[in-house]
Amino acid sequence: MKTAEFKRITKNLITKFNNYSEGVFKSVETESKLSEAMKYSFFAGGKRIRPVLMMYTAKILNGNEDEILPFAFALECMHTYSLIHDDLPALDNDGFRRGKPTNHTVYGEATAILAGDALLNLAFEHVLKFAETNDKIKAVRELALSSGYSGMLEGQALDMESENSDVLGVKRLEKIVEYKTAKFIKVALSVPSVIYAPEKTELFKELGSYLGRLFQYADDLKDVISSSEIMGKTTGKDEKEDKLSAVKIFGLNGLKIEISSLGEKCKILAKSLDNSGFFESFTDYISN
Ligand code: IPE
Ligand code: IPE
Ligand code: MG
Ligand code: MG
Ligand code: MG
Repeated sequence: MKTAEFKRITKNLITKFNNYSEGVFKSVETESKLSEAMKYSFFAGGKRIRPVLMMYTAKILNGNEDEILPFAFALECMHTYSLIHDDLPALDNDGFRRGKPTNHTVYGEATAILAGDALLNLAFEHVLKFAETNDKIKAVRELALSSGYSGMLEGQALDMESENSDVLGVKRLEKIVEYKTAKFIKVALSVPSVIYAPEKTELFKELGSYLGRLFQYADDLKDVISSSEIMGKTTGKDEKEDKLSAVKIFGLNGLKIEISSLGEKCKILAKSLDNSGFFESFTDYISN
């Protein structure tokens, strides 16, 4: 193939790929800096050799371009994630990448780690959108969504960004807790529900959300009133790091009241399910 021909084909594929990627990233928005950090590295100016190879290979096999673009996008997300983490101080400790300062240089290590994770997660979440629809695939997508930029990772990003702030209130606390903790509790209930009882999914998600909040609020309380021996992890850390914890927002006594009313709410929700006894006991187990 002549160089000019090769360049023309490559340029075309890259343009298609970048347009597609811009479309996907339009709906990747977060309250934290997470989505900005993801886009920063993704669009910093990589050569796109992997998507080009994939798209051209599909083309010579008479494949469908629309079908292969999600996979090409996923691969470039995985690659970008590998570069962000490769540049971290713990790995190659590099300051310059794709002609720009590295992700952690601009956004800090915490955000760079989370942005890398979020890109890896987005890769699989995105291709799953186009997978054949059946209950198990839907359940896998629930799993992916619970940990990505619209799940646990956004909670962690907000948690880090909310340290040392005296103006952020209960709304921010609730969002952090819903995302960093409740998303995984919710998905524990929604995966079986999506597969075996889709009509009950919303109810299970609501119960999961309250159980998750109860669990995290109790964890925040125990960080203050319990000991490292009992907890098996360092306590007293939230105040030291000036975390936006439930103790910081409600105070110790206020939080105890909050925990008991969350417990009541969990039990009311549990009662509308069959076998509610287990979830009522579980509520007591995590509140005590
Ligand atoms: C860099 O890959 C990492 C290696 C495996 C050597 P590329 O050279 O493809 O990086 P970008 O995507 O163009 O930035
Ligand atoms: C990178 O290898 C391989 C991955 C990121 C998986 P290098 O560490 O040699 O890549 P550069 O030189 O930083 O791009
Ligand atoms: Mg390396
Ligand atoms: Mg390197
Ligand atoms: Mg190298």
